[in-house]
Amino acid sequence: MSEYQSKSHLTNNAGVPVGDNQNSMTAGSRGPTLLQDVHLLEKLAHFNRERVPERVVHAKGAGAHGYFEVTNDITKYTKAKFLDEVGKRTPLFARFSTVAGEKGSADTVRDPRGFALKFYTEEGNYDLVGNNTPVFFLKDAIKFPDFIHTQKRNPATNMKDPNAVWDFFSLSPESLHQVTILHTDRGIPATYRHMHGYGSHTFKWTNADGESVWIKYHFRTEQGIKNLDEETGNRIAGESPDYKTGDLFESIEKGDYPAWKVYVQIMPIEDANTYRFDPFDVTKIWSHKDYPLIEVGRMVLDQNPKNYFAEVEQATFSPGTLVPGIDTSPDKMLQGRLFAYSDAHRYRVGANHEALPINRPRAQVNNYQRDGFMRFDDNGGGQPNYEPNSYEGPVEDENSKQASFEVSGMADSVSYNEHDHYTQAGDLYRMLNEEEQSRLIKNIVGSMNPVEKDEIKLRQIEHFYKADPEYGQRVADGLGLKVPEKVL
Ligand code: HEM
Repeated sequence: MSEYQSKSHLTNNAGVPVGDNQNSMTAGSRGPTLLQDVHLLEKLAHFNRERVPERVVHAKGAGAHGYFEVTNDITKYTKAKFLDEVGKRTPLFARFSTVAGEKGSADTVRDPRGFALKFYTEEGNYDLVGNNTPVFFLKDAIKFPDFIHTQKRNPATNMKDPNAVWDFFSLSPESLHQVTILHTDRGIPATYRHMHGYGSHTFKWTNADGESVWIKYHFRTEQGIKNLDEETGNRIAGESPDYKTGDLFESIEKGDYPAWKVYVQIMPIEDANTYRFDPFDVTKIWSHKDYPLIEVGRMVLDQNPKNYFAEVEQATFSPGTLVPGIDTSPDKMLQGRLFAYSDAHRYRVGANHEALPINRPRAQVNNYQRDGFMRFDDNGGGQPNYEPNSYEGPVEDENSKQASFEVSGMADSVSYNEHDHYTQAGDLYRMLNEEEQSRLIKNIVGSMNPVEKDEIKLRQIEHFYKADPEYGQRVADGLGLKVPEKVL
């Protein structure tokens, strides 16, 4: 608040009291508006600039503040300081989202849900940008823009396009596992509170002795899993499109704080060379029998944002924002994401997005990066802006280096060695009870029915059939088609 006036005074952006906020300045009561009404000009001009570009994916979302608490000693696996003591709490911000829809789209559609977390650790920010599914549709980042185009609007009709969706899926059989998950009951979580979260990719943890393991994150909802059937989801999408946004806000407002128990699966580094499939392939899950869940902690969301734009819209999460003790893996999707997110943030929010209050680390930021649009902190003051220097500027710390790793092989555009797209999708189908299977088939048939070309439907039926003959047969029956001879 200005020392010259109270909070009740309306001011312009320069802090100058405003004389009239209801009537523009005109030449006489009917005269044209005067250009010298700078308050009017400022209001209209600022309004025109109220939007930043929405996220190209995951545009519709809801966020909340909370904390993460360590409940199990896992220091033998990672040296990350925020995980180094049972009982230690780290503040965090979470954002949940749908993927394909625009910022104003409905919450209760069939879609994966984003599960993005920013931990404000003592060693700087750690972002975990996952989904509510343990796998993804693709295994190589190079296919992501094409895939997302099929989930968005047709370039000519500007409508959602089932042809494009199933054309792409049927030509990208690695999507089958996630396609199956998406059309089960879990494809429409009842709320953001009633779903699990996953880091999905493999990450590397390294302990204080430099020993590393591969890990996968699991966040298991304490509220229990609850889903909506297609009809209910569609009805709510019409009646209350912001249903999940409201549910999260209201439950926190009334003190019913959602919580998740956090676990990791841990794979010894050497196992990655001998496991029965490539463990870095994000279209596959690691067997829980081989790598059981190990408890790490608990996440609680207990505070709503005070301002949606400032805290949720401007929040920027990147899978590359990591702390010492946590590194990436050779997962080809994750590798691409290391570039994509920060690049999107610089475009969407600006080069200094990390200095905004919601993104600003609680740890001190000391570096030699300066200037740029909207540099609204002290920009490093008078400290040296180059390194090395003789003025006691900040220096690197060897202990914070990424864990080193060996690489070998020919540089080439190559796929994973292994092409079994079917076993895990089939396992999932066989795990479902009869009613769940029937709903899965109904959801798939409902989604594929509008596809114009039989060629596309038949190609996709082949994939379902290869996962499990009954699965393929039932989809074919539902679509009134025959399973193609060549897979029988
Ligand atoms: C958002 C790219 C795969 C989860 C985004 C954004 C981009 C992007 C550009 C918007 C970022 C922003 O404007 O702030 C990609 C690329 C991928 C990929 C290139 C593959 C190579 C994935 C996967 C997951 C995922 C595999 C989950 C396991 C998310 C989430 C958000 C997001 C949760 C929303 C973050 C937020 O709430 O701000 N993605 N993505 N993405 N992505 Fe991805």
